[in-house]
Amino acid sequence: MERTVYVNGEYVAESEAKISIFDRGFLMADGVYEVTTVLGGKLIDFDGHAVRLERSLNELDMAAACTKEELLAIHRKLVELNNIDEGLVYLQVTRGAADRDFAYPTDATPTLVLFTQAKPGLSGTAAADKGIKVIAADDIRWGRRDIKTVQLLYPSMCKMMAKAAGADDAWLVEDGFVTEGSSNNAYIVKDGTIITRHLGNEILAGITRSAVLRFAKEAQMQVEERSFTIAEAQAADEAFVTSASTFVMPVIEVDGAAVGTGKPGPVAKRLREIYLEEMRAKAV
Ligand code: PDD
Repeated sequence: MERTVYVNGEYVAESEAKISIFDRGFLMADGVYEVTTVLGGKLIDFDGHAVRLERSLNELDMAAACTKEELLAIHRKLVELNNIDEGLVYLQVTRGAADRDFAYPTDATPTLVLFTQAKPGLSGTAAADKGIKVIAADDIRWGRRDIKTVQLLYPSMCKMMAKAAGADDAWLVEDGFVTEGSSNNAYIVKDGTIITRHLGNEILAGITRSAVLRFAKEAQMQVEERSFTIAEAQAADEAFVTSASTFVMPVIEVDGAAVGTGKPGPVAKRLREIYLEEMRAKAV
């Protein structure tokens, strides 16, 4: 069955959706995106994603394609039209179509595209009960990783490197310290303290990260926002990643070394449960 997608004001069958070949998202990766989870047909942390989208647009002097209220209505309509119970809504805004030039065009209209991805079982425990293995890779991305741009070639290469090494993902390392996962934020747990890199231009401020750290503090868990190394991760009691599409996902191996018992740990399990329960209750 074909999905219905949203393109610049219209809901159309995916095979009918069209974007200009001059779109700067296509020619120059001049665009930003958000991925919002759907659970029980409702949006998880829509507000958080809308706020980060606005920030990404501002940092790039890019115009907003529509208001936050309109965006929410489009998300909801797509979820309904495509009958999504568990899955994702992908949103992308680009600077629009203009004759190819490095300078930003002054008269382009932003392009807005949204589509859904059904992911039955996303909130289930199958993947989280197994956990994932990560390798270390050099973080050679650009210096503004706090902006959620569509430049995802290096993260794609990292997934391929991980796959070739028999792992699931890569943790990126810069100046000896882990920045984040290729498409998630990275954490370790040592003696009960949850450690994750502080925010800055070097990482994306994950919407899931923000909620998980808030819940951890509310549950009286110790949280330290600081850099850590791969060696520290390998010697940790537990490790995990967070993102909209994985929630809290245990990491059982870091660059060939088992973490803790080599099985998903209790802190990640507890945080995943709290996150899912709290976010479902607040879903819109
Ligand atoms: N990725 N860091 C990077 C580099 C990411 O690409 C992502 C999200 C995150 C976690 O952010 P959030 O918790 O807001 O999802 C951190 C999305 C899911 C993706 O590209 O599919």
